[in-house]
Amino acid sequence: MNYDFTTLHPRIAVGSSKWEAMRKLRPGLPPEVIPLSVADMEFANPPEIAESLSRCLNGMILGYTQPTDGYFAALESWMARRHSWKIDREWVVPSPGVVPALCHMIQAYTEPGDKVIVFPPVYYPFYSAIRENGRQVLECPLLEKDGRYEMDFDRFARAAEEGKVLLFSSPHNPVGRVWSREELETLSAICLEKGVLVLSDEIHFDLILGERPHTVFAALSEAAEQNCVICTAPSKTFNLAGLQTSNLIIPNEKLREKLLTVRKRLGLHGCNMLGYQACETAYRECEDWLEQLLTVLRENRTLVETYARAFLPGVKPVALEGTYLQWLDCRELGMDARALERFMQEKALWFTDEGYIFGTGGEGFERINLACPTWVLRKALDRLRDALQSRRA
Ligand SMILES: Cc1ncc(COP(=O)(O)O)c(C=O)c1O
Repeated sequence: MNYDFTTLHPRIAVGSSKWEAMRKLRPGLPPEVIPLSVADMEFANPPEIAESLSRCLNGMILGYTQPTDGYFAALESWMARRHSWKIDREWVVPSPGVVPALCHMIQAYTEPGDKVIVFPPVYYPFYSAIRENGRQVLECPLLEKDGRYEMDFDRFARAAEEGKVLLFSSPHNPVGRVWSREELETLSAICLEKGVLVLSDEIHFDLILGERPHTVFAALSEAAEQNCVICTAPSKTFNLAGLQTSNLIIPNEKLREKLLTVRKRLGLHGCNMLGYQACETAYRECEDWLEQLLTVLRENRTLVETYARAFLPGVKPVALEGTYLQWLDCRELGMDARALERFMQEKALWFTDEGYIFGTGGEGFERINLACPTWVLRKALDRLRDALQSRRA
């Protein structure tokens, strides 16, 4: 079956966080001006999910619900099939979102005042999860070499003397790296040697655009498996963020118990019934949809690369290996962070996530969301081309 990735669906006044933020900044924009910011997609969900939810709503009582055997089987099969990692259902802790889980994990595995290591530029809620819980951020900036990012292992080894936990984004949001097995092995070896626990946020792990496959951190070795929490979700992959359903996978029993203790304190049990249903259906029935999505995302990535080379002097896309979030190096435009933000919003009608919000190394960059119909993305690129031309004129 061919799925529709070309229709632009109206999301005005339906409570979309991404669209409402744009409309607040600039009301009355033409309909083809879409926000390129928050990481959800402008594509309709796989129709199998809507059908499954309708069937469920027709026949079900919306009472207290827990994950079924079918849910765990679908998740186990997905992890084995797509990620070559054999999991045990006992390890799974469903959570109403990865961001809330980051806070719970910080509470469970660190004490107030402890240092938590991050690799900036990085997904900005990492900072708030650490700081809002009274812990300290320890930045270990990524190294940028010829437009490609790497971890600075020497610096990380030093940071690991002080940091208790690493909050890790894999694939990395926003720089789009899919970490190689070798890189992850080096990271894991340092963490094991220095006693740093790895909280590996792998929410984008199904969205691999390049040749290199994603390696689940826990699948590296038995030792790594016992020294991490893996955060996964169907939300990025199948556009289900509104259902607030994610899965933490914690092979180490003691770590699992610690997390469950924090959740008990917060009165938190699990997710909602429709989220479980959608997740199970996605993992069981929507693999074809995902493959077609990946084709569109790869086309959009190529469009941005070729378009930037031809028409966007001073704007350089960083090689996008995974996620649908394109990191754009705009430093050659010579604007400071605020001027760049104003230029993007007012001249190009681009509503992006500004690079500076991702911490050290983010200033001068823009993060744009490629998960929209290709023709809509082309219109956005045209607007930026025209704005750059007027600036030069
Ligand atoms: C790395 C990363 N983690 C977590 C999230 C959000 O997770 P959730 O919606 O499950 O809280 C995002 C969304 O953009 C993300 O990029």
